[in-house]
Amino acid sequence: MEMAGSLPVPSVQAMVAASAGHAPVPPRYLRPEVATDVVVADDGDATTTSIPTIDFQRLLLLDPEESARLHAACQDWGFFQLINHGVPEDVMEAMKGSTHAFFALPAEAKEQFRQEAGQLEGYGQLFVVSEDQKLDWADVLYLNTQPPEHRNLRFWPHQPDSFSRTLDTYSAAVKHVADRLLGAMSRNLGLTDPERLVAGVSGGIPLSSMIQSVRMNYYPPCAEAADKVLGFSPHSDSDLLTLVLQVNQIQGLQIRRPGDGAWLPITPLQGAFVVNVGDVLEIFTNGRYRSVEHRAVVNAHTERMSVAAFHSPSIHATIGPLPELLGDQEAPKYKTLDHQSFITLFFSAKLHGKSFLERMNKKNLSD
Ligand code: OGA
Ligand code: NI
Repeated sequence: MEMAGSLPVPSVQAMVAASAGHAPVPPRYLRPEVATDVVVADDGDATTTSIPTIDFQRLLLLDPEESARLHAACQDWGFFQLINHGVPEDVMEAMKGSTHAFFALPAEAKEQFRQEAGQLEGYGQLFVVSEDQKLDWADVLYLNTQPPEHRNLRFWPHQPDSFSRTLDTYSAAVKHVADRLLGAMSRNLGLTDPERLVAGVSGGIPLSSMIQSVRMNYYPPCAEAADKVLGFSPHSDSDLLTLVLQVNQIQGLQIRRPGDGAWLPITPLQGAFVVNVGDVLEIFTNGRYRSVEHRAVVNAHTERMSVAAFHSPSIHATIGPLPELLGDQEAPKYKTLDHQSFITLFFSAKLHGKSFLERMNKKNLSD
């Protein structure tokens, strides 16, 4: 796939190790304004301070109540936690172990898998497009995982030696869950053909051609200025559906709460996936389902890791509001683009809140 790359930046983990946590944070990472952002405190009211929990087994049984809860979660929150998802615990634990083991390797061992110019896959960072933008306090390993022919094994770590096998098993298991979640969503949306969510406006593309990439995030501790750096800048995901696994129980993910826009910390349930609607699903549904902005903050003393699996339509899909979801008098809010142009557009700018969806918005179009 031809895609824009990201400018090289130093490993934050290596930088922290070299300074033994005592060097001042370089200005490229400092965002003093973060310290004054409004973060929601847990006041015990679960309806406004936590995202919904959805039971996957009940969805599979076509439980009407659970389906309705899923529909509401996609419309009101764009985020939910998925329990009883059926991915075996040993598969989840192996993925956590491999992520941990990879980032624990010596710096030289990780450098072998460094991103190459003009490419997104590999060890490094994403969305760095200028020398003067603020940088995220994190290192990333980004890999194409499904379908298997999209893999570029050149970037798949050899250590730990179970890494490839673990990621192969994990990615297939997560894709299976994502397929079924999208099936439940297409029923909720009243789509007669569940493949529409993979094929997009063009149609005629099988569900199995959905693509998946995995982003392993490593957020080092920041002893000097944890409240003035961000692990992941505010962004929305560009895909259909993201499933995130929390590797260690350190809080960090925050979502911009629909309604008041305050940052709401997510406390992941043990063993659950945090699932979110991405930009493509917002576009397909012409805004019925929300792709909600989120970010990651870092801890002063403890590293944090997560594994995000992104699911996108076939590369041959056309991305735009699905005609059968548009009401009689309803105007499409977003433009229609082929998937390749959509991806290139997405990776060509710094992530900045929902600015990408705004670029896809009809009213902001020059062409
Ligand atoms: C992502 C993401 C959040 C986290 O990878 O897109 O939003 O908790 N990750 O690491
Ligand atoms: Ni994200």
